[in-house]
Amino acid sequence: MSESTKVAVVGAAGRMGQQVAQAVTEAGDLELVARVDVGQDVTADLTAAGAEVAVEFTVPTASRDNVRAILAAGAHAVVGTTGWTEGALDELREHLDAVNEERTDRGEHALGVLIAPNYALSAVLAMAFAKQAAPYFTSVEVIELHHPNKVDAPSGTAISTAQGIAKVRAEAGVPASPDATESNADSRGADVDGVRVHSVRLQGLVAHEEILLGNAGEQLTIRTDSFHRESFMPGVLLGVRQVPSRPGLTLGLDTLLGI
Ligand SMILES: NC(=O)c1ccc[n+]([C@@H]2O[C@H](COP(=O)([O-])OP(=O)(O)OC[C@H]3O[C@@H](n4cnc5c(N)ncnc54)[C@H](O)[C@@H]3O)[C@@H](O)[C@H]2O)c1
Repeated sequence: MSESTKVAVVGAAGRMGQQVAQAVTEAGDLELVARVDVGQDVTADLTAAGAEVAVEFTVPTASRDNVRAILAAGAHAVVGTTGWTEGALDELREHLDAVNEERTDRGEHALGVLIAPNYALSAVLAMAFAKQAAPYFTSVEVIELHHPNKVDAPSGTAISTAQGIAKVRAEAGVPASPDATESNADSRGADVDGVRVHSVRLQGLVAHEEILLGNAGEQLTIRTDSFHRESFMPGVLLGVRQVPSRPGLTLGLDTLLGI
């Protein structure tokens, strides 16, 4: 790696892409070498710019192909686009292993991909706290609240939160949250591994999440608020700096934070 890491942004015209481009430009140890958006050739543009790491914030339908194109350019990837299914992650893991095997045979360094459903430190910590608390409460539900331009629901963060909660509760042998609802089940939100997740879309919001945990006579609420897209930048830049030393697929910012 050169002294200042050469960074490309894929999805550079988007809300997150623009914020990332600004954060990279302002970081003394990083150099913004390419801004790529829809209609451009990711591999060709990144190769021409000599990008070492690419940050990808686009749309769920494009993210898989973009990550492959970034790897084809020999760059590490830091991915923020949500909507990655277990199947898509397995496919990427397999592809990445094959790419790295070929690169190692050619004497080239192995590539890393970091995919995190949320780069805001408060959200990552809220997820960790929710997992800690979940086995001790009878009931748990998740509410995620976002700006109305968000295309996916529930949010990737809420799905990860619910999956994490469900896993620790299953491991601890905690029964399903009690729920006597018999009809109109749609109003109970999405069922993510047995945890109810409610999505609110409201003008003025950015990205917010509440985890409600209830016992007889008591409630714990864990809440995280991202008021501005700036909140994601420390996590994204941490990913950019660390991904070159983490070959293969890394999931979640919590791994990088050691929590
Ligand atoms: N992980 C996180 O912390 C985090 C935080 C905020 C948003 N997100 C996710 O990031 C993604 C982007 O969010 P946004 O608010 O910036 O969206 P946005 O709609 O403002 O921007 C998306 C950009 O991607 C571009 N694009 C679409 N297809 C492309 C392609 N094939 N190649 C290159 N560029 C392409 C669009 O032209 C647009 O400029 C969403 O999936 C959102 O849920 C994740």
